[in-house]
Amino acid sequence: MSEFPVVPMPGVAAPVRDAASLPDSLIAVVSGKGGVGKTNLVANLAVAAAGQGARVLLVDGDLGLANLDVLLGLTPTLTLADVLEGRCRLEEARLEGPRGIHVLPAAAGRCDLPALRPRELAPLLAPLWRLAERYDLALVDAGAGVGPAVVSLAASCRRALLLTTPEPTAFADAYATLKVLHTEAPGLPVELVVNAARDELAAHATHERLARLAGRFLGASLGFRGFLPRDPRLADAVARQSAVVEAFPAAKSSRHLVALARDLLRDVRRPANAGGS
Ligand SMILES: Nc1ncnc2c1ncn2[C@@H]1O[C@H](COP(=O)(O)OP(=O)(O)O)[C@@H](O)[C@H]1O
Ligand SMILES: [Mg+2]
Repeated sequence: MSEFPVVPMPGVAAPVRDAASLPDSLIAVVSGKGGVGKTNLVANLAVAAAGQGARVLLVDGDLGLANLDVLLGLTPTLTLADVLEGRCRLEEARLEGPRGIHVLPAAAGRCDLPALRPRELAPLLAPLWRLAERYDLALVDAGAGVGPAVVSLAASCRRALLLTTPEPTAFADAYATLKVLHTEAPGLPVELVVNAARDELAAHATHERLARLAGRFLGASLGFRGFLPRDPRLADAVARQSAVVEAFPAAKSSRHLVALARDLLRDVRRPANAGGS
């Protein structure tokens, strides 16, 4: 781990690699509130990006209530719990998912893992940084809440996507998450994705309200990454344990997800990757 420049994190006082030296591919998805669509967003972005020729790693960072494997119809033998407890290396826990994506599954039904602090997550983070360099996109489903593991995972990524729906409850939790990230992971670029929006206008209205609050009360900026419409096909795909972009490629949510994946890949590939690895 000594090869990584380390900066102190306020509040949780833990080793985090210098933000600028984190792999550009490494992106966390957070939301605060559960059930707003994080797992579906990461799974579909991953599958869509793989369909566009990208090498993709998908990490289930929902360390207590993992279900990314269930969503993709996979059956893990090893999980991130095995990595954390020293039973296997990170690479060995990888599973192959749809379109050749690589998935790092987590263990469900563990109440201790979401409470892990960065120092305790270190056996996962340093290998994750190394592994992420080998992918065009490495997406981390950071799970719900603002507990230590969620915040540490987000702080260990190059940037974060904050997911909300236009509902006041999800919106309030998204703001609370932004506030926590602003203190615990200063300098982490955060962009908003609005899920289940009525249309583009409604999505922009949600972004504007949240960005205004963030600017006024936190002095933080919040970019806009995009939106997904509410789409019954997405829930149909969940019931089939497959990504909607595979099960129903012509569905409106699929079209948005494919475009989001394309934009994300373009932005991720643009900066430091030019140096090669
Ligand atoms: N855009 C959408 N349109 C319709 N249903 C959605 C949409 N996004 C999410 N859902 C529904 O919400 C459920 C919860 O989503 P999930 O991705 O598991 O949330 P989280 O990971 O944030 O807890 C999904 O199983 C699906 O039924
Ligand atoms: Mg989830």
